[in-house]
This record gives sequence, structure tokens and C-alpha cells, in this order.
Amino acid sequence: MTQENVLEALKNVTYPGFTKDIVTFGFVKDVLVNGTTVGLTIDITSSADEVKAQLRDEATNELKKLGFEQIQINVTAPAAPKQMSNSVSGKNIAPHVKNFVMVSSGKGGVGKSTTSVNLAIAMAMQGKKVGLLDADIYGPNIPRMMGVNGQKPEIQGNKVQPLKAYGVEIMSMGSLMEDGQSLIWRGSMIMKAIEQFLRDILWSELDVLVIDMPPGTGDAQLTLAQSVPVTAGITVTTPQEVSLDDSRRSLDMFQKLHIPTAGIIENMSGFICPSCDEESDIFGMGTTVPVAKEYDTEVIARIPIEPAIRIGGDTGMPVTYHMPDSETAKRYQAAASNLLAFIDKVNAEGGADNSAVQPTTPPGVSACSTGAGASSAPAKEPTNKNHEGCGCN
Ligand SMILES: Nc1ncnc2c1ncn2[C@@H]1O[C@H](COP(=O)(O)OP(=O)(O)OP(=O)(O)O)[C@@H](O)[C@H]1O
Ligand SMILES: [Mg+2]
Repeated sequence: MTQENVLEALKNVTYPGFTKDIVTFGFVKDVLVNGTTVGLTIDITSSADEVKAQLRDEATNELKKLGFEQIQINVTAPAAPKQMSNSVSGKNIAPHVKNFVMVSSGKGGVGKSTTSVNLAIAMAMQGKKVGLLDADIYGPNIPRMMGVNGQKPEIQGNKVQPLKAYGVEIMSMGSLMEDGQSLIWRGSMIMKAIEQFLRDILWSELDVLVIDMPPGTGDAQLTLAQSVPVTAGITVTTPQEVSLDDSRRSLDMFQKLHIPTAGIIENMSGFICPSCDEESDIFGMGTTVPVAKEYDTEVIARIPIEPAIRIGGDTGMPVTYHMPDSETAKRYQAAASNLLAFIDKVNAEGGADNSAVQPTTPPGVSACSTGAGASSAPAKEPTNKNHEGCGCN
């Protein structure tokens, strides 16, 4: 029996929560074969004991099937996740936040805010310190969905205390404006607002800050990626082809902005009838899998259309918290576990790094003259307020 036989057999062992196997992930190391004796290391990205035990058992079974009699498996846990203070590389204007998750979509109205709310609550219910930033400056929906609309945050000097609900710290432009007010802002003002949300909000030492983005791939996304190292990007899409076209743009943006892609959430995927609990197919189902493959990522959840989700959003009573036994809540919880495992993996591999997307314009030179597109990296940042009208920022 050879090293190759061992690696081939261990391809049957998938990493919990993922569809990929431990060999493809590159976790299997130092394979030594001597007759019917084999020794190897599985160097994993999660420190959870149950993950270690499960992998050891499954790998042992596969090796026994090959005919090995003496099996030595050393499962090593990762170094503790790196504090993302980013003083070494890139830029982080909110260094006390360990991980940033960008929830994005190419199209509006596909369920980004609903996903952000439910994922944030699910991670908080799993014991993480979580914040939820509503970066949709023009259409802030998070306060209503989290049941804090009308509440005004406390100001401390020139900083602002986040609001709190369901164990999650929250900030939104909606909480800083009067109800029903509209904002007419230039792109450069949006960028300033995003920066202030990261720098001037008194976020605790969060494990994860979930950021609900406006639809599309514009100034807000670019500013966020340049200001903090985004650990994971999630694209929300509905199953119709027209939505998938737009979600490709969102996935492409993650790649251009050097954001590790955690996966796709296929929302409004099938309909669960409230009277008979039966699931039927309205917009299509499962259409996102080929798109995920195209971008070498996963579908981390399929969330059905369910009246309880919409009602939960409208009334500020999110389904993950208020109906924890529902099928949908379970799917959000599974997606949150999947996301946390992905974050562990990114950090074990050195963490996110946004140095490649920093503005390249030398001080004093107009970004307008570079001709760089806003969606391509390396990217630019306005250097001078006088450029506000020229259409380049
Ligand atoms: N799976 C679902 N089942 C039922 N209703 C849903 C589901 N997902 C979202 N909704 C509802 O659809 C509407 C749009 O969702 P949401 O506001 O989360 O989308 P969005 O992508 O954030 O929109 P925007 O681009 O305007 O920010 C909301 O009323 C929400 O409650
Ligand atoms: Mg939204």
C-alpha cells in the first residue's frame, strides 16, 4: 500500500459542514506507510473536539478498509485565530472586531437584510459576540427587522453606542435619522458614512460583524473592502436565472476585492405551505449549485419562501429567534455554523488581507486621472473633495 492509496481513501472523508473532503482541503499531511502500518497528521481548521473525533473515526475506518492494522492519526488544531489588527498588512479601521462578513447581492429585494438578521442572531445563539451593521444607507431596513425602530442610540462624545436586540449589537443609518426621511447623498458621502460606521460606533470586541450591504457592486462595497479586511463574503440570490446573472457579478466582486467567498444563500427557494407544511417549487430550486461551482464555492443554505420569515421581518420578530424549531430557523442555524467554520478556516490560513485593494493613487495626484474602474482592484479612493462632481468617486 502506498501514500497515494492512503490519500485516495481519505478523499471519502468530508470536512463537517462542507462538501469537500479533507485531502482536497489540504488537511492531510505527513503520510508515512510501512507495510500494514500507517501514520499521518490531519491539520484541521476548527478546534472543536467533536470535529476532531469525527474526522479521526472516519479516517480510521477508511484506512482499516484498505487493510491497515496499525493506524496512527494525529489531529492537530489550528493556532488561535489571528487578531485581525492588520497592523502587519492591509488596513483595518475597526481592529477590535475580529471578523467581518459582507452580505451582498447583485439584485435588490432578494433577501440580504433578512439573511443578515437571521445569520447574526443564529451566530449569537451559538455563543458568538455578534454585531450587525446596516450599510444600506439609502434603504435601511435593519432597525425594523430587529425590532429597534424608533430607538435612538446613545451618543458618547463623538462616538455612538450601538443598539442591542436578540444578543446582537446593531447600527443603521435608520437609527440616526427621523422615520421616513430620505437621504440624497453623493458617492463620496456614502464612503464617509461607511467609514464612520466602522470607526465611530462603540462596537464591543466582536467575534463577527455582519454587514448588510445595499444591492449591487458599488461605492459601499469598495469602501468596506478597503477599510477592513473582510473575512467572508456571502451572496444572496433567488433561484431565477435573472437573479443568478446578477449574483455572478457579486461573486466576481468578491474575487476582485480579495474577499474569501463563504458561499451562496439561495433564498425564496421553494415554498413551505403554512397549512400543510408541504414544500413546492415556485421560483425554481437548486439552480445556484452550478453557479457556486463556477466560482469554486458552496451553497451554504436554501431558505424557502415562508410567510413567517416576512412577518418576522415586518414585526421585528426574526424567525431564527422566535421560531427556533421551524425548518427555516434550523437552516439559518446550519448556515451560521457553516459560516463560522469557514471563518475559522480563513483565519487558520493567515486571515483576510485587503492590502491589494488599497488606493494606489500617490498623495496629491487626482484619482480621476488614473482611469481605474471602481469595481476592479487595485482600486481608488477619493483624495480630494473637489472631485465629488467628476463622476469618478
Ligand atoms: N425566504 C423568504 N420568505 C418570505 N419572505 C421573505 C423571504 N426572504 C425575504 N423575504 C421578504 O422579502 C422582502 C425583501 O427582503 P429583504 O429586505 O431582506 O431583501 P434585500 O435584499 O435586503 O432588499 P434590498 O435590496 O432592498 O435591501 C422582505 O419583506 C422580507 O421579509
Ligand atoms: Mg436590504
